[in-house]
Amino acid sequence: MCGIVGYIGTEDAREIIISGLTRLEYRGYDSAGIALYGSESKTFNIYKDKGRVAHLESITDFSYKSCLGIGHTRWATHGVPNQANSHPHTSEESRFFIVHNGVIDNYKELKSELLTENKFYSDTDTEVIAHLIEKFSFEMNVDEAIRKTMSLLEGSYALAIIDTKDESKLYACKNKSPLLLGIGDKGIIVASDLMALVGYSKEYIPLKDKTFVEISGNDYKILDIIGKVVKHEVKVIDVDYTNIEKGEYAHFMLKEISEQPSVIRTIITKYFDGEEVILNGKVKEALEESDRLYIIAAGTSMNAGSVGRELFEKMAGIPTEVHIASEFAYNMPLLSKKPLFIFISQSGETADLRAVLVNVKAKGYRTLTITNVKTSTLAREADYFVEIHAGPEIAVASTKAYTAQIAILAILAYGLSDKHINLRKELSKVAISIENVIDRREYIETLVKEYLTKRNCFYIGRGIDYYACLESSLKLKEISYIQTEGFAAGELKHGTIALIEEDTPVIAIISQRDISKNTRSNLNEVKSRGAKTLVISTKGVHEHDDQIVLDDVYELFSPLLTIIPAQFIAYYAALHRGYDIDKPRNLAKSVTVE
Ligand code: G6P
Repeated sequence: MCGIVGYIGTEDAREIIISGLTRLEYRGYDSAGIALYGSESKTFNIYKDKGRVAHLESITDFSYKSCLGIGHTRWATHGVPNQANSHPHTSEESRFFIVHNGVIDNYKELKSELLTENKFYSDTDTEVIAHLIEKFSFEMNVDEAIRKTMSLLEGSYALAIIDTKDESKLYACKNKSPLLLGIGDKGIIVASDLMALVGYSKEYIPLKDKTFVEISGNDYKILDIIGKVVKHEVKVIDVDYTNIEKGEYAHFMLKEISEQPSVIRTIITKYFDGEEVILNGKVKEALEESDRLYIIAAGTSMNAGSVGRELFEKMAGIPTEVHIASEFAYNMPLLSKKPLFIFISQSGETADLRAVLVNVKAKGYRTLTITNVKTSTLAREADYFVEIHAGPEIAVASTKAYTAQIAILAILAYGLSDKHINLRKELSKVAISIENVIDRREYIETLVKEYLTKRNCFYIGRGIDYYACLESSLKLKEISYIQTEGFAAGELKHGTIALIEEDTPVIAIISQRDISKNTRSNLNEVKSRGAKTLVISTKGVHEHDDQIVLDDVYELFSPLLTIIPAQFIAYYAALHRGYDIDKPRNLAKSVTVE
């Protein structure tokens, strides 16, 4: 949530920051802002407003040279999206400019205890930080003032700070929220994510929590809160972000849905040697030695985790629990004797997961992260990590990361199973079957026009189909804003059936032989009450009037396939309503606040 970029060097700060913010826009896009130092006029200017980075670009003055600046793209936490609440924020006497990603939990206390005389111009928690730094700067050096402020802040922050009295320096610091230092030949960048550094820096340093950085020219000092030098690791940037264009596709989401067969094939090439699964020995050992797996995730990744539980329990016989990260962090259940914590996260940055990771690591438990971003915080900080190789996912609504996560979970579960299936063959079959759905997307679009006509919609299914329903309804609500839920088909009659009216759309997912009849009776129950029903089924269990019939795949892998028409249903429902598909309202792709 929120992306920050700061630059100091000899290149054009404005270009580096604006292009960085454009790449970080997936983190939040309700407002954007930039502060720049004009090298010739020797003045500082702030441009900021509600709206996207493209709007910021249109209101920024490009006519002067600037080699120092900080920028921000916002996902509002405190205060509505408007110009006053947009970053950068300034201190009371405008000496300090800051941009912030994170949430300061004790900002109200700090305001009422230390800043009673100060006048504030925004509703943000961030402004308090700027005021504190300025307050302390009257009594001590700027670096000390920032570190003293850090020592008072409770919560999460990644900050880039400019002192308008010294344009030769850029400051940054962080706790919990991600922040990287990009080292280039012509300057140094601080940014929330590697994507903002690519093209400008060859190396980067992932900053540790509670560290402070003072950058001047090409020189930097990394210190802890008391001013002691912190050891750091310089890493080479070896990620490929060439694949971040939409190409021939109208939206990233459509591109990413269409990439799913090739993602599954990539995973096969990465994790198979012939018919044999290649698993990192330590990962395999950690899985084998644990008596219970605890999957911790959020959103789509949690829905993939629920499918993962079925895979671990049914294929490998390992008891598995799935938990919402934000709940687990502060309400931990009784644990087994030898738990292994599996964090599933597309971005590898989700703050709710990191809160759990820090907590369970401190207790000495082993941790494994499954992620799409090998350079992410969760990948770095867990004991082990497994990459899903989905390639950059840009649309906020996750599609290919979900299927990639399930494919990886299947590989892990298979690695521990008695290998009763030919996994490589089964996954290849899934890839072909997904292609068959992609080929029929125009037909699905006609169904959407016919069925998705109301403000609400239900997905129903049983067993593993129920988990596919949860993800299907999440996709639909995220981008089309249709009020929708996924229900265990049998549970509907215990309350929610009261909501069924004439023509309420109910979509059933039916792929499991042993329970397909039960779901069908539940479907009849809603039909008898006026629902307009649409069935997504697989060949082995289909009936002649089912609208979408998919190929048969290994039953436990059916969510890899049944989700594809549901992704298209969400896509076309949003398209026909004219919504911004890749950047839906109120959401962000990387959720770095708890
Ligand atoms: C946000 C995104 C979702 C994503 C969830 C978890 O809510 O909008 O698409 O599923 O975060 O993110 P993660 O990166 O941890 O998978």
